[in-house]
Formats: sequence, structure tokens, C-alpha cells
Amino acid sequence: MSEALKKNYRVYDELGRGRFGVVYKAYSKISGEPVAVKSINKTQIGDCSLDRKCLYNEAKVMNKLSGVPHILRFFEVYEDENFVHIVLERCNGSDLFGRILSRNVFSEEEAFAVMRPLMEAIAHCHRLGIAHRDIKPENVVFNDQNELKLADFGSAEFFQGDQLMSGVVGTPYYIAPEVVSHRDYNEKIDIWSAGVILYMMLAGFPPFHGQSAKDIFEAVLRANLRFPTQVFRSVSPTAKDLLRKMLTKDVHRRFSAEQVLRHPWMTSRGGGGGGNWPEAVAVCEASRSAAVLS
Ligand SMILES: Nc1ncnc2c1ncn2[C@@H]1O[C@H](COP(=O)(O)OP(=O)(O)O)[C@@H](O)[C@H]1O
Ligand SMILES: [Mg+2]
Repeated sequence: MSEALKKNYRVYDELGRGRFGVVYKAYSKISGEPVAVKSINKTQIGDCSLDRKCLYNEAKVMNKLSGVPHILRFFEVYEDENFVHIVLERCNGSDLFGRILSRNVFSEEEAFAVMRPLMEAIAHCHRLGIAHRDIKPENVVFNDQNELKLADFGSAEFFQGDQLMSGVVGTPYYIAPEVVSHRDYNEKIDIWSAGVILYMMLAGFPPFHGQSAKDIFEAVLRANLRFPTQVFRSVSPTAKDLLRKMLTKDVHRRFSAEQVLRHPWMTSRGGGGGGNWPEAVAVCEASRSAAVLS
């Protein structure tokens, strides 16, 4: 671990890990403030130019977004021979992935409590010309006050105006069809991924699934959005309407982050205060298999 980092921070046990990063619990030696240190092993990244570019983009993007509500605060970055260490606001180690696995299904009000801050964070990124490109439950964390924070800008990219991006980034269940088909794309790939998260919270399983990454990609490309009655009869028409607008294959028709925030489901707090759809029904055991998420 970098000498300069050790001089300024006491680093303790692991809080989480992803593809390249291990996130540790740490404290500032100067202020005593609790922080998280994300250490990215440069030697694991290899020669893929896209991954190398992303490695150096992460701290740059976080710096630009620091202080934006619902986005992890960035403090500083250290680099040594083998690692880049990014010092971040500390969350309590629970992420949305764990919550989805433990909860099976969310009520619409509970899903709204996730979607509102998540979409605000995404809208802020897009306004500042940043696409996250890997929106998924593992990259959504919660702090001690249970506030949602969007994390992991390790795949993020800057864009300007209508300029398109390229490169296959993302995670199978959440990836947008235009990325799977190797077309250039814009920031609306994040809306697709957020739509997949909303669907998963309401249904307990992803909208486009398969046994292998290849099968999932084929399902994503078909983009055949279904609302199985057994699960969705308890979900409001407004929620389904929003899902259709986020999970639209045609990028021009797909909603922007601002449009999502203005949709009636979002402005009515997920139908909170009493919708007139039937009471929630038990969800079919088989259809909410956790295995499909792992
Ligand atoms: N600031 C943080 N505080 C607490 N846990 C975090 C924090 N940042 C990330 N994590 C946890 O660590 C995991 C890996 O971090 P992430 O930034 O997603 O790394 P990777 O780029 O390798 O996916 C996340 O899925 C999350 O559970
Ligand atoms: Mg991650």
C-alpha cells in the first residue's frame, strides 16, 4: 500500500470488492474522519485500452461530481507502482444488491425511495456531461443515515452534447441493447440500466435473463418487455408505463433522466398514499430465484 496513503490514513478491513477494486474501511490520521479507500490493482487491468482509460477517468469524474447529492464524495487520490487508491466518503457496506437479494420484492413506495435519489444522481451526471455506464445494484450504496449514494465511476466517460460514446462496458443484466450490438451510444444507456433496477425491485427478477451471458445478451437485444400477470397484477399501471419508457429499445423514444423524474410515478411518490391496484400477491417462488442474479 502506498507510503503516502499510509502516512495520512489508517486502513482497516475490507468493505466490498468488485471487478478491479477492493474497498477498505479507513480513517484520516489528521481529522479522524471515517473514509473508504478504493484500491484498484493496476496489474490486473492488463493492456485493454478501454480499461486503462477508465482507470484514470474514475478519479477525474469523481472529482468533478464531488458534492453532488446522492453521489459518493471524493477526497483525494494516491498512486503507487501497482495501485491507484481513491479516498471516498464511507458508506456502511450495504449495497442495493444485498437489499434486493434479501427482500425479494419491494413495494412501489420502497422502490420509489430508491429510484428518486438514483435518478437525481444520474440526472446530475448527465447534466455535467458524464455517463456512468455501469449502473447496477452493486454500485448503489447506503450511508449510515440510509441515504443512497451512487458509486463506482470506474466505467464512466465524459461526453459533450450529442457526441456519441463507444466501447462495451456494463454488466449483462443491465446493459442496454445498443451497447450489446456494438453501436455508438449516448448517456441514455444509464436510463436503460436504471429501468432494469426498477423492474427487479418490483418483480424480484430481471426483465431480460438467460442461463449464460450470451443468452442474456440475446434477451436484451430482443428487448421483449413482459409483465407476467402473477407478479405484476399488484403493480400499478403508472409503474408499468414508466418501465416501458425506460426500457425502450429505440434510444430516441427512451426517456431522458429529466423525463423520468417528471413521470407521474415519480411525482406521485411511486403511487404512495394509496393506489387503487389490488393488494400485493405472493410472488411465485420459482420466478424470484436468487441464482439468476448471481
Ligand atoms: N464508499 C464506500 N463505502 C462502503 N462500501 C463501498 C464504498 N464504495 C464501494 N463499496 C462497496 O464495494 C464494492 C466494490 O466497489 P466498486 O467501486 O463498485 O468497485 P469495482 O470498480 O471493482 O466494481 C461495491 O459494490 C460496494 O458494495
Ligand atoms: Mg462496482
